[in-house]
Amino acid sequence: MESIQPGKGEYVMSNEPEFINNAAGSMKPKRRTPAMTGAIAAVAASLVMLSSPAAQAEQPDIVVYKTSTCGCCKNWVAHVRDAGFKVNVVNLASTQPVQKRVGVPQQIGSCHTAVAGDYWVEGHVPADLVQRLLTESPPDIRGIAVPGMPAGSPGMEGPKPVQYNVIAYDTGGKLSVYAKR
Ligand code: CU
Ligand code: CU
Repeated sequence: MESIQPGKGEYVMSNEPEFINNAAGSMKPKRRTPAMTGAIAAVAASLVMLSSPAAQAEQPDIVVYKTSTCGCCKNWVAHVRDAGFKVNVVNLASTQPVQKRVGVPQQIGSCHTAVAGDYWVEGHVPADLVQRLLTESPPDIRGIAVPGMPAGSPGMEGPKPVQYNVIAYDTGGKLSVYAKR
């Protein structure tokens, strides 16, 4: 906003505190500077692009946040791709900031964090359960997780598979068993 030079006398500073984001009130047409008009046109153009069918076709089903050195994460990405999901991978130094941002509780954390639709998916969750979550679209669940990295979960294949629980985290902060594998 600092780059916008108001024209003489036509820009009236609001007395409202800055945390009140009253964009509609402070951007009346007659107060628009050329720079602002350009910015608004650019935003409008990008919105048109976002809503075009071509842009929508490129939207991934799942975005996976992982560290670049995580081998089992790559295996899980391959697992969900094999199941037919369109996956975007984002490599980070740590997935902790993402876990914090989307709200994955620490005690059910794992090696990677994915976002699918309105939900987060933590760790080696089987792809059919991700599909079930998206299909059923439960309003009270925020995400599902396979805590830790149990042997035999997708991406953690090995000679000694174990049984494990897939955990759901609901909007009230409660954990429950979503599925047993
Ligand atoms: Cu892993
Ligand atoms: Cu992983």
